[in-house]
Amino acid sequence: MIYVDHAATSFPKPEPVIAEVTRFLREEAANPGRGGYRLVRTAEAHMARVRGQLARFVGGRQPERMIFTYSATDGLNIAIKGVVRPGDRVVVDQLAHNSISRPLRHMADLGQIELVCLTPPTPDGALDPQQVADAVAAKPTRLVAIVHASNVLGTLEPIGAIGPIVRAAGALFLVDAAQSIGAADIDVERDCIDLLAFPGHKGLQGPPGTGGLWVGSRAVDTIAPAVREGGTGGDSAFPTQPPIWPHWLEAGTHNTAGVAGLGAALEWIEARGGPAAMLRHERELIRPLIDFLASDGRFTLYGPAADRMGDRIGLASFNIAGVAPADVAAILDADFDICVRAGLHCAPGAHRHVGSFPDGSVRVSVGPMNTPEEIAAVIGALKRIAG
Ligand code: ALA
Repeated sequence: MIYVDHAATSFPKPEPVIAEVTRFLREEAANPGRGGYRLVRTAEAHMARVRGQLARFVGGRQPERMIFTYSATDGLNIAIKGVVRPGDRVVVDQLAHNSISRPLRHMADLGQIELVCLTPPTPDGALDPQQVADAVAAKPTRLVAIVHASNVLGTLEPIGAIGPIVRAAGALFLVDAAQSIGAADIDVERDCIDLLAFPGHKGLQGPPGTGGLWVGSRAVDTIAPAVREGGTGGDSAFPTQPPIWPHWLEAGTHNTAGVAGLGAALEWIEARGGPAAMLRHERELIRPLIDFLASDGRFTLYGPAADRMGDRIGLASFNIAGVAPADVAAILDADFDICVRAGLHCAPGAHRHVGSFPDGSVRVSVGPMNTPEEIAAVIGALKRIAG
């Protein structure tokens, strides 16, 4: 089997991640903060260690502001519902995943917020930072929410240029790093990111059911628990959610085994050279496929052009003339044992932008376990299908 659907989730997971999840379940799986006996304290220390690892990984200096979440969707909902109030204005981009666009559209439909959607100027999907500058200059804005890397087009947005613009305007900057974390260079301080949501199970190579939300200093006094409130282990006497970090935004028993596995995944990534090495590997893998798709007239390639690999993560979205994307994916699976995702990828706005709505596209997305031979096999299969 050739698995090239890493944008949906990374697979297979590194062996040390699998080993750490099972070790934790066997040896340490008490409930952190719930009790004071030694096993609880061991599990608690383990969670604190991973929290610190995650914070450092994105350049965060206060580990208690790294919130454990269950996915990027979870973190985005905690962020959006935690900072946006009735009467607010929010700026978003057209490539946004449903995990950003649906909660915001819901609020807009209820008449609670003014929602401004930025359309990238060209089909490659890259925003012009001046668009953001114009949008936040037009009216006071609470939040600018941008997807760092499009899960449909693979386009990397210029968040390093957008962050300072958002900050100067006094808005909060929320970045959806679902497709970029683990590969792209992210530094919340340098990039002026106030809220960074990411999954643990994609580029970070961790287990499903894990993720994080970084809350920067400018969001601390604004963000309120709007998604979940409840038990935090200590501080049980507080009648409402204790205003203590990280408990302010965390309630209920954590996915402790998942978090332990995520810690092992971060170590695995660092040992292989960190995100820069991951991105290099992804780009080397995807380049021959991009070159092939761009040069064969039977295919339509979406996202940055073949000579702009630096604007792209390891993902290629395309269509074959005259064949529905769902059929291409089904043939790849049935006849070639190749796993890809076809359709709208939970991001209809991106497909509308490039004209592939409503059928969507076929998406090949690579990860650290893929090899050049596998990509050659994917190209061979696509040639057969197109022929
Ligand atoms: N959002 C994920 C994807 O793009 C699941 O497939």
